[in-house]
Amino acid sequence: MENNKGMALEGLEITKMEHAHSEQVYQIEELSFITPWSRKSIRSEIDNKTGRYIVILDGEKVAAYGGFWLVLDEANINNVAVHPDYRGRGISKLLMNTLIKMAADEGAKHMYLEVRSSNSVAQGLYRGLGFKMIGLRSGYYIDTGEDAIVMMKEL
Ligand SMILES: CC(C)(COP(=O)(O)OP(=O)(O)OC[C@H]1O[C@@H](n2cnc3c(N)ncnc32)[C@H](O)[C@@H]1OP(=O)(O)O)[C@@H](O)C(=O)NCCC(=O)NCCS
Repeated sequence: MENNKGMALEGLEITKMEHAHSEQVYQIEELSFITPWSRKSIRSEIDNKTGRYIVILDGEKVAAYGGFWLVLDEANINNVAVHPDYRGRGISKLLMNTLIKMAADEGAKHMYLEVRSSNSVAQGLYRGLGFKMIGLRSGYYIDTGEDAIVMMKEL
């Protein structure tokens, strides 16, 4: 498989997130977010029956992870991150397309997500995958006070 920048994604493995991945996931959280998930939150999400979380592995190394909650026919993306060393290679598109397929296969009709208004990189990712802005939650993020853009894709 190749991405649109011609870089090979071969050798990467997509698998369900397990407790064995949680420390690496936490390290990526810390590198990626102003308010990262705690180790405890990550462990409880792995056990959450509503959650569907995956990792993309390069050998033993977690390159990316993400997941959603599935409630009836709605999938809500909770988290998506790529390790800084692996960004810009199309890995988030592989991750998101896998999550979209998983949700559709389980009968979801819509996928929703929230993204910080300052996060233009992630907004570009989601727009490129067919997500449309459907709303704005003013001051949604407590840490910076910034707005959340709500996006939705029909599956
Ligand atoms: C957002 C993030 C997941 C993108 O991961 P990535 O693997 O580097 O992205 P990809 O290489 O798959 O690129 C996907 C799209 O993202 C956008 N993008 C990626 N890197 C970009 C950059 N440096 N500048 C602008 N847009 C960029 C583009 O729209 C790109 O699509 P294109 O290649 O067709 O132009 C990654 O930057 C990340 O983990 N950021 C920190 C955590 C985060 O913000 N998560 C999202 C929370 S809502």
